[in-house]
Amino acid sequence: MNPIKIGEVDKVTITTLVDDNSGFNSQFLGHHGLSLLIEITSGDIRKKILLDTGQSEKAILFNSRHLNIDLNTIDMIILSHCHYDHTGGLIGILKEIGREIPVIAHPAIFRQTYSVDPYLRSIGMPLENTKENIRQHGGHLLLTDKPLNIMKGVISTGEVERSTDFENKGINTFNIKENRISHDDLIDDLSIIINIRNKGILVISGCSHAGIINILKHTVKITGIKDVYGVVGGLHLLNSSDLIIDKTIESLSNMNIQLVAAGHCTGLNGQYKLSKAFDKGYQMLHSGKKLEITSK
Ligand SMILES: [Fe+2]
Ligand SMILES: [Fe+2]
Repeated sequence: MNPIKIGEVDKVTITTLVDDNSGFNSQFLGHHGLSLLIEITSGDIRKKILLDTGQSEKAILFNSRHLNIDLNTIDMIILSHCHYDHTGGLIGILKEIGREIPVIAHPAIFRQTYSVDPYLRSIGMPLENTKENIRQHGGHLLLTDKPLNIMKGVISTGEVERSTDFENKGINTFNIKENRISHDDLIDDLSIIINIRNKGILVISGCSHAGIINILKHTVKITGIKDVYGVVGGLHLLNSSDLIIDKTIESLSNMNIQLVAAGHCTGLNGQYKLSKAFDKGYQMLHSGKKLEITSK
């Protein structure tokens, strides 16, 4: 496969609209889940992408007001995967925007998925997130398992190839299809790839269920760009052993990554070990946290 030529961007600003962590001494609300507002400038084009919608729109609307962010100016929504803590606020956000807007996701996002941790419950998209209801509220669905060009310098990963031997042991969730119970391998997990001029690739993920190293390897493979500048998002090291966290950090270090900004499902042990390994290159996400990355 020939690499996809994605072009470059000049500037990326990422604002955490909601994270599990409200931040110390903060005016913002924390709520289990994630929603990131990504503003991208490439030449005279400027676009705003909302990656994920938290588990409800309430904290996002509250935090946006305190950040002076007008959600009506969002150009598109990307859903990283089906989990309720990333998709639960979708209809509420669409109502707030009140006009037609692209909603990009993997086609498998509509399957129902369950967990028994700590008891049997549905953890996929809420039932109100039907294709019909999303369309009725202005969501123009673009469903693909392939990388999708978003704008100059920005693509989605599409379905991520699982190539490492230590990642993607999965989380203990399952599907029920034609009366059969099967393990849910979260094939719908996708991330955003941004190529920052003279810096390299920035990958922004929701939960990294495909494994952050798998996601980065997949990114290098599909773009042909070897310089990975940074990763932002949930790294899902929450229940990972020290061995897996250490292997993840070793792989990130081998890629010479400059920025790791992690939150949500990264877990305290993961946060601690990443902050020790990357020192000033490490930042902890929390509601209201703003990151600004400009080309050199
Ligand atoms: Fe999550
Ligand atoms: Fe998740």
